Amino acid sequence: MKLGSALTHSATKAMLLGSGELGKEITICLQRYGVEVIAVDRYPNAPAQQIAHRCHVITMTDAEELRKIIDLEMPDIIIPEIEAIATNVLAEIEANGLCRVIPNARAIQLTMNREGIRTLVAETLQIPTSKYAFAENYGQLKKAVDDGIGYPCFVKPTMSSSGKGQTRVKKPEQLEEAWNYARFSGRVDTGKVIVESKVDFDFEITLLTIRALDVTGQIQTYFCEPIGHVQENGDYRESWQPQAMTQSALQTAQEIAKKVTDALGGVGLFGVELFIQGDNVWFCELSPRPHDTGMVTMVTQRQNEFELHVRAILGLPIDPSLQKHGASAVILSDIKSKEFYYTGLNQALSVPDSEIRLFGKPEALVNRRMGVALASAETVEKARNRATKAAALMGIHSE
Ligand SMILES: Nc1ncnc2c1ncn2[C@@H]1O[C@H](COP(=O)(O)OP(=O)(O)OP(=O)(O)O)[C@@H](O)[C@H]1O
Ligand SMILES: [Mg+2]
Repeated sequence: MKLGSALTHSATKAMLLGSGELGKEITICLQRYGVEVIAVDRYPNAPAQQIAHRCHVITMTDAEELRKIIDLEMPDIIIPEIEAIATNVLAEIEANGLCRVIPNARAIQLTMNREGIRTLVAETLQIPTSKYAFAENYGQLKKAVDDGIGYPCFVKPTMSSSGKGQTRVKKPEQLEEAWNYARFSGRVDTGKVIVESKVDFDFEITLLTIRALDVTGQIQTYFCEPIGHVQENGDYRESWQPQAMTQSALQTAQEIAKKVTDALGGVGLFGVELFIQGDNVWFCELSPRPHDTGMVTMVTQRQNEFELHVRAILGLPIDPSLQKHGASAVILSDIKSKEFYYTGLNQALSVPDSEIRLFGKPEALVNRRMGVALASAETVEKARNRATKAAALMGIHSE
């Protein structure tokens, strides 16, 4: 691919839809190759907007607003960073050959809604998942649970992320509240919820899977070492790499990831979330972009997940290999404030082989992810101890 130089006539322009902490790292990688970056988000001064060449604040689920900004900027590449986007606009733009969408508009459409990806994976591709059903009203939900999904189960909006609107329902008395929460707190109202049986896994992983061109110009599939993680209330708290697992489970995990990403197509990095129990593997969900648990690769791989995504997008050679064992631990706010400051950076960075990333978010909210602690070590266990210790030393205070 020909690469222009940012802010000149020849510039290769990339538009990020969603400008959070993952988008910020993607922006840094793009800018190292002189790509011009336009960062779009729903609020001003989002992390990637603070370093992009230009930015726009729009409602990304509004087709008119999105189309207007794309017409104005005429990017060569659109890189979605979040799910809540008017994806029909992306499909039109791609069909007109105006611009590349990463990995492609269909993959973005299928994965933005749990119904799309779940139906593809479980029904078309026949890959194991939890038992599931979709419900448009409380009666349908109750019937699906009574008819086989059982308790405990998970009720989730069909469009949401980071655990938003999700409830783990232990008994029948909690089902109606879970229905209301899922139905009315998703990012975009699809009118439907998904209910899933609980998978009894030993651990869960993100398998970063990259579709990129090889030296002959053919698309190949590459895998990073599996990333283990801990989730609380549907949101990630800690991740580490590599996650130890049996050779057989790893092989099955890679086969599943390849099958799903082949079906989605395009180029780029995908975060394939899988549940593992012994040699058994279940598909959970997938991000057609870098994954939050994959931030650990900033200290474990020579080419982290953002660099891999950007290289795959630009048609450059990639190397997904692991260099060190490492871990990440999130830095969450426990206050709501627009005037706040961080403490503890000196102490946190005194933890051996640790790094801290503060995302520069303009507002602290309770449980909002404001930064991440990263650490490497000879073993995963030691790296986890270092990362959680460094994260715990950070404080967020109101002025
Ligand atoms: N069917 C299930 N069985 C067991 N655990 C589950 C199930 N569904 C969800 N979980 C737990 O909840 C977590 C979040 O679920 P899921 O990934 O579907 O939601 P999400 O809101 O998209 O989260 P994120 O954006 O953080 O990935 C999972 O990583 C897992 O720990
Ligand atoms: Mg998930």
